[in-house]
Amino acid sequence: MDATSKQRRTQKPNIYAHLPASDSLFHSRKQLFEEMASRVHYSIQNNFCFLSSSSSSQLYNSINSRGTHLRNRIHLRKNLFSSSSRRGALYCTCSRNESESLEPFVLTTPLYYVNAPPHMGSAYTTIAADAIARFQRLLGKKVIFITGTDEHGEKIATAAAARGSSPSEHCNVISQAYKALWKDLDIAYDKFIRTTNPKHEAIVKEFYSKVLANGDIYRADYEGLYCVNCEEYKDEKELMENNCCPMHLKPCVRRKEDNYFFALSKYQKQLEDTLVQNPDFVQPSFRLNEVQGWIKSGLRDFSISRASVDWGIPVPNDIKQTIYVWFDALLGYISALSEEKGQPNLQAAVYSGWPASLHLIGKDILRFHAVYWPAMLISAGISLPKKVFGHGFLTKDGMKMGKSLGNTLEPNDLVNRFGPDAVRYFFLREVEFGNDGDYSEDRFINIVNAHLANTIGNLLNRTLGLLKKNCQSTLAVDSAIAAEGNEFKDTVEKLVEKAQVQYENLTISSACEAVLEIGNAGNLYMDEHAPWSLFKQGGAASEAAAKDLVIILEAMRIIAIALSPITPSLCLRIYTQLGYSEDQFNAATWSETKWGGLKGGQVMDKPKPVFARIENQTEGEDGGEATKKVGKKKEKIPQSQSMAGA
Ligand code: MSP
Repeated sequence: MDATSKQRRTQKPNIYAHLPASDSLFHSRKQLFEEMASRVHYSIQNNFCFLSSSSSSQLYNSINSRGTHLRNRIHLRKNLFSSSSRRGALYCTCSRNESESLEPFVLTTPLYYVNAPPHMGSAYTTIAADAIARFQRLLGKKVIFITGTDEHGEKIATAAAARGSSPSEHCNVISQAYKALWKDLDIAYDKFIRTTNPKHEAIVKEFYSKVLANGDIYRADYEGLYCVNCEEYKDEKELMENNCCPMHLKPCVRRKEDNYFFALSKYQKQLEDTLVQNPDFVQPSFRLNEVQGWIKSGLRDFSISRASVDWGIPVPNDIKQTIYVWFDALLGYISALSEEKGQPNLQAAVYSGWPASLHLIGKDILRFHAVYWPAMLISAGISLPKKVFGHGFLTKDGMKMGKSLGNTLEPNDLVNRFGPDAVRYFFLREVEFGNDGDYSEDRFINIVNAHLANTIGNLLNRTLGLLKKNCQSTLAVDSAIAAEGNEFKDTVEKLVEKAQVQYENLTISSACEAVLEIGNAGNLYMDEHAPWSLFKQGGAASEAAAKDLVIILEAMRIIAIALSPITPSLCLRIYTQLGYSEDQFNAATWSETKWGGLKGGQVMDKPKPVFARIENQTEGEDGGEATKKVGKKKEKIPQSQSMAGA
């Protein structure tokens, strides 16, 4: 612990204190064991993908039958990253190839605190996660998209009291508000876990007991400065004037408690090695340095119980304490996998999909996910998630948005005024995923109008209008035939491939850009070929014009699939205008972004604008209100209003 820090434990913790006194040889045994374990590690690394729990414990037991706290060290670092969802991520024992084909794509958002209704920051993570989940489903993967709410702890209890509610009533109301917003934003999650769910509580207790049995929990006094909003003891060096938390700009309070601690420091080397061997574990890559820096600067054990907080899961065997919210909430990623029916248990939950393919989080909670959580999992003998992606922060007026700061951007308001597609598109297109991004209403309206209403909506509308007028809304030929030898087709194919790579790399903004490029290329094609004048010429020119329309509509079909992770409702509207049913849209896969889907004779729907252009509210020259369509709060744009049309 830093000598200059005022934080201190009043009693020096001894992480081996739980061992019987006769284990005084432990340190030398420990060294011996570590050396042997590393030799074993080295010699078998190339022969086996996994070391089974039984072999690891046999080896361990042969060295030290009592010092169980080192057992976890024998887990191969490689093991921790590779396991099967079905065959057991708990002390993984299966082979990599066997497991990969069965593995679902499991991705998570943070479990959101329910101290207040959702703000745009929480909506942002969830929108991004939904886009990734939808893309993975298009690839044909079985996806388990987990979200939920983090409902225990002091700040939730305080928020409930301030509303005059019991904590559980309060949690019901706010978690419902999250669910309602996710519905409005077209979020298609698979699991919604609440940390007050009894199955979650059972799994947290089981996990706690496992870590305890592994010798990684001990009791000690702690005194330090606590930020209730972070739910974390702070290092005084990190604080601002008046001991204010740099994140929440509120003073931390001095606390002294007798708590249970998790022996994080024990995992320092293992975490260091893990990150060296799996540099993709933390994304974007520039955040890896940050994580490595934290670890290098020395990991301190952290307290995982609270004596002063009633609203939480009681510590097994000590009901006077409750489990620290992070030690509780992180387990939600596993408990969410439990089946609804039956007795919940850790192993069964792990078998139902763990390890997570991707934890999507904001950069402020990276330490919990990339340091604490992996160490906890190693201690419990459970595989590590494959990737943790820390996105940037949304700012408004250059300031971080947050419930505690009181400068939130209201997602309900945005979605009511502009609809889900506009909100999803703006944040995913305009904020480079991983970096911070700023919201301004003018930019929002300009981007959404230019891209969704003009580039896409208008192109579809013009094309269908011409098709109706000149071809009875019926395609003249197959799109494959129409595009023979056509460079535009090659351009579209290249852009779709690019979009796929960008989605896979989680560079979501670039994926949007690539798809929009198809729209731009389509508009250019339309303007250069001017089918409206070709139709007037009749004969072969008319036939060429009819082919041009097929070509542009085929590009629109491809856009409708490739942009569907970002703007699902808009893409459904496009798809149905192309003569497909909603079921066909829902069954579409990424492989259908190949050129050639539209067939001759296919009848298109009547042209209806698919995206309502947003009329901006501008200030009149006299400073008063000028024309306005959507400036007022809670005003919903009807889809028929001021459309981008032909
Ligand atoms: N309850 C914890 C997470 C536990 S996960 C096991 C928590 N909840 S939170 O509600 O405070 O934050 C949830 C997410 O919202 C975090 O990923 C955080 O980064 C994100 N955001 C909060 N404000 C944000 C912005 N202004 N911009 C973008 N995301 C931000 O932390």
